[in-house]
Amino acid sequence: MRLVTQVSEVHEFIDEYRVQKSTVGLVPTMGFLHEGHTSLMQRAGNENDKTIVTIFVNPLQFAEGEDLSSYPQNLEKDISECEAIGIDLLFVPSSEEMYSQPILTSVQIDQLMNTIEGASRPTHFSGVATVVAKLFNIVGPCNAYFGEKDWQQLQVISTMARDLSFRVKVLGCPTVRQPNGLALSSRNAYLSLEERKAATALSRSLQIASENVQAGETSAAVIKSQIVDEITDEALVTLEYVEIVEGNSLITIDQIFEGARILIAAKVGKARLIDNVDPYFGIK
Ligand code: PAJ
Repeated sequence: MRLVTQVSEVHEFIDEYRVQKSTVGLVPTMGFLHEGHTSLMQRAGNENDKTIVTIFVNPLQFAEGEDLSSYPQNLEKDISECEAIGIDLLFVPSSEEMYSQPILTSVQIDQLMNTIEGASRPTHFSGVATVVAKLFNIVGPCNAYFGEKDWQQLQVISTMARDLSFRVKVLGCPTVRQPNGLALSSRNAYLSLEERKAATALSRSLQIASENVQAGETSAAVIKSQIVDEITDEALVTLEYVEIVEGNSLITIDQIFEGARILIAAKVGKARLIDNVDPYFGIK
């Protein structure tokens, strides 16, 4: 595995890969890798000749007062995991390398950025889309892998790639969970043992909702209030929102149908956690 910190070094390797006619799989991350990340890396490895992982805690996507300065990191462990999986190129740029000048350009995706998670975090998705656009341009044509765990992010990035004609195929990958249902997240590191247990209320409420939808309940209002009840029962969890939307457009719906998505966010201790489900599939 080659570990590089400069954009010019990525270009050198990419140029080689192109000469070899190798297909390239890209997995952008903010590090502190867990099995959710490694599932993306493994899939990228299986489906491409060369696999590139990026680790960059992107300041643009954190608002004032969010956890940029305390975001968990363990670069040494991340490097050995990438090596063990057989990643070809690991790109770990500094902020100065990514944003050598104050950045004046930003990517906006109308309608998808200001709802749901974007309503609570108004600058977040523009920060995500802008850094991902940079990574897509640095790497060039590739297959890029993103987790369904961040459903809205996946829709934002897929739409950006389509609208701006990036030669990048955006591929969504299923959420990896603990056996108790808790979706893996770097931010779970903020949770105490007790909070970790309480946090299972998120996936549990989504599973109960899915079972009710599969049993024939289609009213979004009914399903929403069942989720609210389930989460309110858990004292350590404070629900921020439950949204039921059409999965790709993220438009709110009143009646649940195939293609719907249920998204939730909640505070558990210091952590802000998100989760989502296709109610016709459920938490598997
Ligand atoms: P990060 O939170 O590190 O996640 C990197 C990728 O791993 C994302 O595509 C995310 O959806 C995926 N992922 C996280 N937890 C997962 C889980 N439990 N199961 C499956 N996939 C999971 O998301 C980001 O970083 C950043 O916003 C980024 C896209 C890198 C832009 O800075």
